Amino acid sequence: MDKLIIKGGKRLAGDVMVSGSKNASLPIFIATILAPGAHEIRNVPFLRDINTTIKVLESLGATIEGNGNVVKIDTSGLNRHEATYDLVKTMRASVLVLGPLLARFGKARVSLPGGCAIGARPINLHLKGLEALGAEITLEHGYVEARARKLKGARINFDVSTVGGTEQLMMAAATAKGETILENAAREPEIADLAEMLTSMGARIDGAGTDTIRINGVGELQPVVHSVMPDRIEAGTFMTAAAITGGDIRIHGMRPDHLDAFIFKLQDAGAEITHKDNIVRVKGPRKIRSVNIKTRPYPGFPTDMQAQMMALMTVADGTSMISENIFENRFMHVSELLRFGADIFIEGNSAMVKGVRKLSGAPVMATDLRASASLILAGLAADNTTEISRIYHLDRGYEAIEKKLSGLGADIQRVKEG
Ligand code: EPU
Repeated sequence: MDKLIIKGGKRLAGDVMVSGSKNASLPIFIATILAPGAHEIRNVPFLRDINTTIKVLESLGATIEGNGNVVKIDTSGLNRHEATYDLVKTMRASVLVLGPLLARFGKARVSLPGGCAIGARPINLHLKGLEALGAEITLEHGYVEARARKLKGARINFDVSTVGGTEQLMMAAATAKGETILENAAREPEIADLAEMLTSMGARIDGAGTDTIRINGVGELQPVVHSVMPDRIEAGTFMTAAAITGGDIRIHGMRPDHLDAFIFKLQDAGAEITHKDNIVRVKGPRKIRSVNIKTRPYPGFPTDMQAQMMALMTVADGTSMISENIFENRFMHVSELLRFGADIFIEGNSAMVKGVRKLSGAPVMATDLRASASLILAGLAADNTTEISRIYHLDRGYEAIEKKLSGLGADIQRVKEG
């Protein structure tokens, strides 16, 4: 197993390029199931979750070839309709194959994902929505068994805004008979990216990116060439790295409009942010100001930036309140941040963070993807050396992060543990 060793205290400076989005790539890969043939997906990040998605598609009978950040997926030979526990427990997003398999084969067998480090994360709304489209669903031996001769359009109103649920139903409805209306749909940019791909495949989708999405089912879809949107959470993590080190960096290839709520907060914290086209420059403040954060579905402050923002607040001037409203257990990084000498108190779904003058480097353990990112940020700001173990979490979602940070002047190395 690898670990990261960071010698903190360096101001980051220079240029860094954002990779393609993990959370957009996963459903985009899975959507290729809907149209038999040769698809080409571009701007794909090199990540462990992408490898898992490739394994899922291969296990269904797809053939896949990768060359740099371009991945060719041929789904003509798809002949299986099952996603096993082994794959789904490694990556929950594998459950997204349910809708596309049902649409293509009229049946699907997909393992229920089980627990997760950040919350219960049920998929009840995915299943309820598929039932509304006419699927017959049973749960047996830990698997969801779904059948439908032909899915039929329906009006679906989500109880809570769900990114995966919205993606699942948009894919299932693309070739269903008649019109589907998704109300209280999630509005995340990754959903708009998936809709753009489905539309290039021939789907008729209106309103993706708003809370009402209308899908008019078409007879069949065509294979496609699609380029994945930039990773807004990776971009936000680099912006926070500039802020916490008092650095001055330029981030290339990002979409600042995808991160408005976060950018406003980072500016309130004192960072100077300017942009020209898709290059964003972030200058960290001399003194970080405390800000309060409430995570919300898009366009609110993203839960996927909560841990990183908390790392920044540990060294802010004053006290900040951070409320997590999306996942019920997403404060796993707090006990690790305490090891750096941070002053954080949790009460229910809120954390009160009192800024300290300086963090001190420590051995810590990554617990989930974004928690790992927050530990890196703390390590960059801390004095002395920080060792982060269990960084396989990090490799799920950040492409070459230690190389990118080294390029900005950080003293960070990946070493083999033990
Ligand atoms: N929910 C239900 N029932 C459902 C589905 C969701 O109650 O059927 C609840 C969840 O338990 C959660 C809330 O709804 O409390 C929102 O969950 P959502 O479905 O939106 O999350 P997701 O699709 O499972 C995606 C991202 C997450 C990101 C969330 C929220 C992917 C692959 N994952 O998860 O990304 O935090 O949306 O924005 O797109 C990450 O990248 O680190 C990550 C966890």
